Amino acid sequence: MQGLFLRGNMTTKQQVLKTLTSRKGEYTSGEDMAKALRVSRASVWKAVSALKKEGYQIASITNKGYTLLEDKTLLSASGVLAHLGEEYSAKLEVYYSPSVDSTNNQAKVACASGFTGNALFCASEQTAGRGRRGRDFYSPKDTGVYFSLLTSPSEDITSSVSVTTAAAVCVAKAIEELTGETPQIKWVNDIYLQGKKVCGILSEAVTDFETGSISNLVIGIGINVSTTQFPEEFEATATSLNSGEVNQSELVARVVKHLLEYCESWDFSALLDYYKEHCLVLGKQVTYESKGVTHEGTATDITNTGALVVKHSDGTTKTLDSGEITVRVDKV
Ligand code: BTN
Repeated sequence: MQGLFLRGNMTTKQQVLKTLTSRKGEYTSGEDMAKALRVSRASVWKAVSALKKEGYQIASITNKGYTLLEDKTLLSASGVLAHLGEEYSAKLEVYYSPSVDSTNNQAKVACASGFTGNALFCASEQTAGRGRRGRDFYSPKDTGVYFSLLTSPSEDITSSVSVTTAAAVCVAKAIEELTGETPQIKWVNDIYLQGKKVCGILSEAVTDFETGSISNLVIGIGINVSTTQFPEEFEATATSLNSGEVNQSELVARVVKHLLEYCESWDFSALLDYYKEHCLVLGKQVTYESKGVTHEGTATDITNTGALVVKHSDGTTKTLDSGEITVRVDKV
């Protein structure tokens, strides 16, 4: 495991990055940082060199110290940790890899090898990104963020749909906070911007063989940040955040903060109002397929566990709580 990822919790490097980020436009001397962080000046110098190697533009002037010239907008473990801040970064391990097959796979491997606790696996590229229902998830290098949160639910998770709908709210909130755009959520958990999909979420449960209960959850999220060219099959339906430069590490950190908050209670009802306000399907005509039969109706409500209520023309209603049911909206 150690060899697979760049380990994220390099405290001095993270703290140096945090200091420089918070003092942008100003110079901070190596000596002051060393004193504040209670490390040697050589450690500060080493941390600055490592950050430079990762691509951070740090200028130094004799007798003045160091300054961060601009945000490093690409994803990195230390960037995520810096944006998570102390409170949240203490709650999980962060692993970054430039390229992996699938971050969900990495999380599951960690789980199988006995990892316990919370961990975040993130990458700038996936060579075998997975989507729902066995589909591929297009994950090109550097223009999207791909990450999976591995966690052990403290509650007995009875409704997987509430986890996936909660994850959608966490992503939508982060996008809204960072870009000012208003995302919409297509039940269950696809995130749309102006009618096109910008993010996909794949939640997978690891079950305890003995008890049959969920021992671990992997919540995998892929957000198209600045991808402009999609493969033909996604061209008409996929989009990216179109708000200029986005700090990818900050985007991931914001989503993760919301997720960790949700994981304290596992209570979707606290997120219900946001979900409903941003729900793309409510009030719309939908078609859904269940056991090979196609049904039509109007999406009328979302329950406090995230299930979708559909009213048919004969007045009957159906509550859809399986994420595996395909819902088509007449007009997005
Ligand atoms: C979908 O839209 O069908 C779900 C896509 C989920 C993609 C994310 S990217 C990070 C994580 N790793 C994967 O292989 N898949 C998820």
